Amino acid sequence: MTHTTRCRICDGAVEEFFDFGRQPLSDRFVRPDELENEFFFRLAVGICASCAMVQLMEEVPRTHMFHEDYPYLSSGSSVMRSHFEELAKRFLATELGGPDPFIVELGCNDGVMLKTVADAGVRHLGVEPSGGVAELARAKGIEVRKDFFEESTANDIRDGKGPADVIYAANTLCHIPYMESVLRGVTALLKPSGVFVFEDPYFGDIVERASFDQIYDEHFYFFTATSVRSMARRFGLDLVDVERIPVHGGEVRYTLAPAGQRTPAPAVAELLAEEEARALSGRDTLLGFARRVETIREQLREVLQRAKAEGKTVVGYGATAKSATVTNFCGINPDLVSFVCDTTEAKQGRLTPGVHIPVRGPEAFRDPYPDYALLFAWNHADEIMAKEHEFRAAGGKWIRYVPEVHVV
Ligand code: SAM
Ligand code: TMP
Ligand code: ZN
Repeated sequence: MTHTTRCRICDGAVEEFFDFGRQPLSDRFVRPDELENEFFFRLAVGICASCAMVQLMEEVPRTHMFHEDYPYLSSGSSVMRSHFEELAKRFLATELGGPDPFIVELGCNDGVMLKTVADAGVRHLGVEPSGGVAELARAKGIEVRKDFFEESTANDIRDGKGPADVIYAANTLCHIPYMESVLRGVTALLKPSGVFVFEDPYFGDIVERASFDQIYDEHFYFFTATSVRSMARRFGLDLVDVERIPVHGGEVRYTLAPAGQRTPAPAVAELLAEEEARALSGRDTLLGFARRVETIREQLREVLQRAKAEGKTVVGYGATAKSATVTNFCGINPDLVSFVCDTTEAKQGRLTPGVHIPVRGPEAFRDPYPDYALLFAWNHADEIMAKEHEFRAAGGKWIRYVPEVHVV
C-alpha cells in the first residue's frame, strides 16, 4: 500500500480535507468464516494544490479489489441498462459510423454497453480484469480481454487489432490510480480522429449533495472539468465536450480528443466557468463539505438509535459499495440495521464489509416489511421506490441521507 501525499497526476502537493478512518474493501462481502482476514486501509481524501485533482491519500492494491469474485454487476439496474443501450446507439450513429469502426471499452463488466455494439456486428473489445463479470460478458457474445488496461495492454491491442475510433470507460477511469500508464495507452491506441469518452461521479455533485459515500477504495479520483482538462493536456489531449448526466447520483461524461483535432463544445467553457464561480476547489468549499458530512453522521446515528429505542425494525436497501463508507464511518452495525437486502446473488448470504450486516435477497424485504428502510442505493431511488411502492402503502418509511438526513 502506498501512503502518498504527492499528486498521482502532476506530482504536486495533495492536501487532505477529510479522513474517514479505517475502512474495509467496499466490495468484499465476507463469509462468516473469513472475518479474521479482512483487509483495512485508511480512507482519506485530498486535493492537489497544483492541478486541483481530488484523490485518495492511500491506494489499495488493484488485485485486492478487482479479481475473479468482484461482485458488482452493471446490469443490476434497469435504468442503467437503458442508459448504456442509448449511449451505444449514439456511438453507432456517430463515431462508429465510418468504415470498419472499432471501439474499446475499459471495465466493460457484464457487457451492459457492448452488447448493443456486438449485436450491431461492430468490431469491439472489452478490457475487464474481473474474471467472473468478464465471463458474463463473453456469454453475451462480446469479445473480452481479461486484463487491466494500461500502456502495455493498449500497445498490444493496437498491434493486434489496429487503432480505435472510440475508447470508452464508465465508472472505471476514476478507479485507476496509475493514470499516466492509462493515458499513454489511450493516446497510443486512439486514431487521430478518435475520441476517449469516460463518465464518472462528478465532484461538483458530490459537494452539492454532500454524497460522501461516493468516497471509497475503488473511487480513487473525483473529477471536475478543471482537473480533467489539466490532466488531459499533460498527455496531448484536449477536453472537447462535457455532459452532465443524472445517473449514479450525478456524473459528467467527458470527451477527450488528440490535441487540435476537434473544436471544444461550448459546454466545456460553461462548466469550467461554473466550477470557478462555485470555487469548487476552494478551501471554504471543502471545509463546508466536511462539516456537512459530520452533521449527516450525527443525524443518521440519531435517527437509527431512536428507531431502535422505540423498538422499530430497520433494514438496509441495496448492499452498495458506497454503503461501506456510510456504515463503517457512522458505526452502523447489525444492532441498528438488522440486514441489507440486495438482488446480487454473490452478495447474499454474506456479511457487509467491516460492520458485518447480513445480506439477504430482495424477498426478505417484504417478509414482513420493516418499519424503516435505510436506502443505501439512493442513486437508484426512483427505480427502487417505484418497484417497492407497496412498502409505503403498508406504512413503511424510507430513511435517506442524501443530501441530508430525512425520513419519507
Ligand atoms: N462500466 C461498468 C459500469 O459503469 O457499470 C462497470 C463499472 S465497475 C464499478 C468498474 C469496473 O472496472 C470493474 O468491472 C473492474 O473490474 C474494472 N476495472 C478496474 N480496473 C481496470 C483497468 N485497469 N482496466 C479495465 N477495467 C478495470
Ligand atoms: P450501485 O449503486 O453501485 O449501482 O449498486 C447498487 C446495488 O443495489 C447493487 O448491489 C444492486 C442493488 N440493487 C438492488 O438490490 N435492487 C435494485 O432494484 C437496484 C436498482 C439495485
Ligand atoms: Zn496534481
